[in-house]
Amino acid sequence: MKIYKDTDELIIALAEAIRKVAEETIEARGQFNFVLSGGSSPRKLYELLASKTYRNKIDWKKTFFFFGDERFVPENDSQRNSLMAQKAMFDKLKISNSHILKVDTTGSPSEAAQRYANSIAAHFHNTPMEFDFILLGLGDDAHTASLFPNTEVLKETEATIKSDFVKKLDAYRITMTAPLINQAHTIAFLVFGENKSEAVYRVLEDKAASAVLYPARLIKSNKKKVVWYLDTAAASRL
Ligand code: 6PG
Repeated sequence: MKIYKDTDELIIALAEAIRKVAEETIEARGQFNFVLSGGSSPRKLYELLASKTYRNKIDWKKTFFFFGDERFVPENDSQRNSLMAQKAMFDKLKISNSHILKVDTTGSPSEAAQRYANSIAAHFHNTPMEFDFILLGLGDDAHTASLFPNTEVLKETEATIKSDFVKKLDAYRITMTAPLINQAHTIAFLVFGENKSEAVYRVLEDKAASAVLYPARLIKSNKKKVVWYLDTAAASRL
């Protein structure tokens, strides 16, 4: 757990962690497979990674981008996580489309999930889909990616992509399952704001809390420690 006095400090520390993992991974395996989070919190981080400070510090030509989850809406819909990342980072870094594996939401939600799983499996040449860095956010209800409280997808034991209907949003989501997230080399949570402090407490400290009600409790890396990047407000109940 890393706690920072404000979001700027937090974002800079996280950008540095991403730079370090990218460098080591490209050195070791020739490419960096980077899973992005959606929501509003990571926008500043993506803008920093695309800024003068970072644009030459990471070998973007050897970086592939994925999404931990996506809203089941058309590609150009303003709700799309991929559109936010496109505007905040990909366009500025001139990332080629062949390096961005987006969710194609044509057809049914389950078809979209299966297609995304196939495209990721193909990228990994059918070897285990072990991403190098997965960035996750946290909802104030302790959901992460699109693993929402009291939903079917929480029971998934397969490391894959699933669609799920989220009653409280009255919408479908496409999401990586917890087993898929947990096989990543590095997992980092980016969480700030007082409104998240209850969820942070339930996930990190409340031993009696269940994963069905607080899904981010399902995130336990098979490899290394999960790192939580928090500001003091989000950590205020710890
Ligand atoms: C999404 C996200 C989701 C997000 C949380 C936090 O598609 O919405 O992937 O898991 O990380 O909802 O969202 P905020 O950062 O906007 O609070």
